[in-house]
Amino acid sequence: MEVPFHRPELGEEEIAEVVATLRSGWLTTGPRVKRFEEAFARAVEAPHALALSSGTAALHLATAALGLDGEQAVLVPAMTFAATAEVVRYPGAVPVLVDCEEESLNLSFADAEEKLTRLAAGDLPGIDGGRRAVGIIPVHVGGALIDGDALAGFARRHGLWVVEDAAHAFPAAWRRGPQEPWLPCGGSPSAVTCFSFYANKTITTGEGGMATSHDRELIERMRSLSLHGLSSDAWGRYAAAGSWDYRILAPGYKYNLTDVAAAIGLHQLARAERLRRRREAVARGYRERLADVEEIELPEAPENRVHSWHLFPIKLRLERLAIDRDAFAADLRRQGIGFSVHWRPLHLHPYYRETFGWRPEDLPVATAVWRRLISLPIFPAMGDGEIEAVTSAVRRLCTRHRRRTVV
Ligand SMILES: Cc1ncc(COP(=O)(O)O)c(C=O)c1O
Repeated sequence: MEVPFHRPELGEEEIAEVVATLRSGWLTTGPRVKRFEEAFARAVEAPHALALSSGTAALHLATAALGLDGEQAVLVPAMTFAATAEVVRYPGAVPVLVDCEEESLNLSFADAEEKLTRLAAGDLPGIDGGRRAVGIIPVHVGGALIDGDALAGFARRHGLWVVEDAAHAFPAAWRRGPQEPWLPCGGSPSAVTCFSFYANKTITTGEGGMATSHDRELIERMRSLSLHGLSSDAWGRYAAAGSWDYRILAPGYKYNLTDVAAAIGLHQLARAERLRRRREAVARGYRERLADVEEIELPEAPENRVHSWHLFPIKLRLERLAIDRDAFAADLRRQGIGFSVHWRPLHLHPYYRETFGWRPEDLPVATAVWRRLISLPIFPAMGDGEIEAVTSAVRRLCTRHRRRTVV
């Protein structure tokens, strides 16, 4: 049996809503985007939300609205996707790469602390000492949230703004303890939280994103920047109530979400918790069926977290295997199992290596762990047969490639 890495889950409601949108004649940003923003804000308990054309656009506008400039630096995890760091580079600012925790793959606050000390001492590769760190962009890798108090406390101590990269983390929540209330991702006091609705994300609009915040002015600045920097009354300029005489307030961008995309998003949002529970059941199935396989480590299901289970990254125990990750992955593919790797860390990509001179030993945990990572398929529509096909392929490969100790 072949199992793809991902299959999107789109229902008849999404299809009917898209058709209704096309029939309505209103294709670009309009009433469905507004409804999508309001419903999303309610879902994450945030007062303000802005729908955008991608998660990357949300990260870009958040940093732009916070005034990021080319003289500044921002703490960014090495273990992330291109988008988290590239938005820091857009205005010429510098991402200070931070190592990860081996278990969760989330950013290490201990290393962040050390990187700030080294930045101040002018002791980081390719970064002159005069730069000041102004912010941090943590990523909730795979959908298991970073401790919100640790994050807010770190940012407060160092005078940093926080833009959360929550591309994987909807719906997700954390709580301080079993008796404490759940706190949804997106409703935190961080300056902005950014979500992605890319095709393989936990809910999708094909391409799309959302920014949430408690700061109305910041969101309104982002809204203006998302539409060429026009005055906000320009939004309705094609409707009867809108003004034709808009003003350009800043050289902005073109990042608005369309009503066609929001039509999909509205129904994905309504089903988000049901979809999450099905991904959680897949994760439980994997954890039960693979618990005794000694050649791999499974991702933890952390306490006091509602995990969105966007990813299920296993770590190979290379000391117990006779082959490396790449050979293991190639063999998995031969068995018909889709996979991905999240991620080759940023400092091991040519651009960051050549521009700043980061070396593998500057981020030792990320350097070592990525050689062991493989993300298994996890999506709501996975049937028992598919879960079984994946786990038996992993088990078979572990047995086949087990390292035999030579006496
Ligand atoms: C951690 C992370 N941040 C940001 C993004 C960017 O999201 P988008 O593809 O919607 O621009 C992604 C997307 O894959 C991601 O995984």
